[in-house]
Amino acid sequence: MAIRLSRTFVLRKLHQLTGIMPLGFFLLEHFYTNSKALNGPADFNNAVKDLQSIPYILLVEIGGIFIPLIYHAVYGLVITAEARPNNLAYPYPRNWFYTIQRITGIILFFFITFHVLNFRFGMIPGLNTLSVARHPDQSFAIVSGEFAKWWIFTIYVVGITSTVWHLANGIWLFMVDWGITIGERAQRLTGYACIAFGLLLLAVGINAAIAFIKPGGLIPGIL
Ligand code: HEM
Repeated sequence: MAIRLSRTFVLRKLHQLTGIMPLGFFLLEHFYTNSKALNGPADFNNAVKDLQSIPYILLVEIGGIFIPLIYHAVYGLVITAEARPNNLAYPYPRNWFYTIQRITGIILFFFITFHVLNFRFGMIPGLNTLSVARHPDQSFAIVSGEFAKWWIFTIYVVGITSTVWHLANGIWLFMVDWGITIGERAQRLTGYACIAFGLLLLAVGINAAIAFIKPGGLIPGIL
């Protein structure tokens, strides 16, 4: 018997899948590369140089990051526009998580647009004018120059925190929706695991950002 899938179902599943793969995996790779800044400018610049030497890098970026990101972002905004928050009538954690997932999605939309224009293309008037990808030898200097402005650093702290929250809660949603965690107890334990993962990822992401303004990050020599 042939199974007919509704268009909304397929679009929705594709939206959930792109959040994990490639976007979630890309975020882990991105934090790994950023953490090279803990070892100083030379290591970070070499990491950027290595990434740029990947064969067909532009195609990899367009197919592996930009297209899935634009799809996830635009369809995410459509889902958000249809959302019916009910937090005042039902103030349970899951209802708040539902609303925060949508709020962080909107923050991410603006943050990622700003971030890509700021560093990948150097196209925001009055800010950095060099593309980090095209100037790997200056990439640490470009990022640290921007982060020296307190308000830009604040935008990045808010952006990193929102991204980590969105991904950690998104992994939980994905596992429940795709039938990987079934049952009350499994969902509760997975919830704790996602919180622990989120806190660890937040520490890694923020520490990498700090390494651009304070050599070695928050606790040099230990981590
Ligand atoms: C760029 C702007 C973004 C917007 C507007 C957005 C929006 C959304 C929305 C509204 C949901 C909830 C969908 C639902 O409950 O059915 C969602 C889920 C999710 N998002 Fe995003 N998102 C964005 C970026 C990202 C990024 C960069 C990542 C990865 C780091 C990501 C990962 C996820 C994951 C894993 C889910 C859970 C999928 C699921 O519901 O099963 N999102 N997103």
